[in-house]
Amino acid sequence: MMLHRLIYASRPFGFDAALLGGIMVGARRNNRRDGLTGALICRADLYLQLLEGPAAAVDAAFARIARDDRHLDVEPLVSEAVETRLFPAWDMLDDPARSWLWTPREVADGAVTAAEPGAVLAVFERIAGERQAADGATPAAQSATAHDLSGSGNRLD
Ligand SMILES: Cc1cc2nc3c(=O)[nH]c(=O)nc-3n(C[C@H](O)[C@H](O)[C@H](O)COP(=O)(O)O)c2cc1C
Repeated sequence: MMLHRLIYASRPFGFDAALLGGIMVGARRNNRRDGLTGALICRADLYLQLLEGPAAAVDAAFARIARDDRHLDVEPLVSEAVETRLFPAWDMLDDPARSWLWTPREVADGAVTAAEPGAVLAVFERIAGERQAADGATPAAQSATAHDLSGSGNRLD
């Protein structure tokens, strides 16, 4: 079945553990209902979210998310048809920001919204690859991810 993948960036408005917990509980409940999976990278200055699933469900979720006053400056970065999910086992993985991600300074200077779609996708491919490795994925799946990242030519290494 053809699926849709959407990645957007936004700026948290009011960021703390309780607020984040509330977002995640609602997101997971809805996503399970709607056949969506994905990952949300959370940092005081940045949300970066990947949503994947049936196109109509992705569109409907994103329309709700874009109206949500818990963040600002919601900007789609990647929107494409895909054959497979990057996070098939996750209603919504919440991922702490990583040391290798853009710095707060770079984010403030617009690095995320200026990034190539391939570089944005590579962020999530790396996280998915790390999760698969941690969960004992097959060597084939791991090397496919490593291959994707090696060709991305961005600053994630
Ligand atoms: C950063 C962020 C990520 C969110 N992610 C999702 C999501 O993956 N799925 C979802 O249904 N709602 C998500 N939401 C919540 C939606 O904006 C909205 O509040 C919710 O879908 C409304 O659902 P309800 O009518 O069941 O309360 C997110 C909100 C924020 C601020």
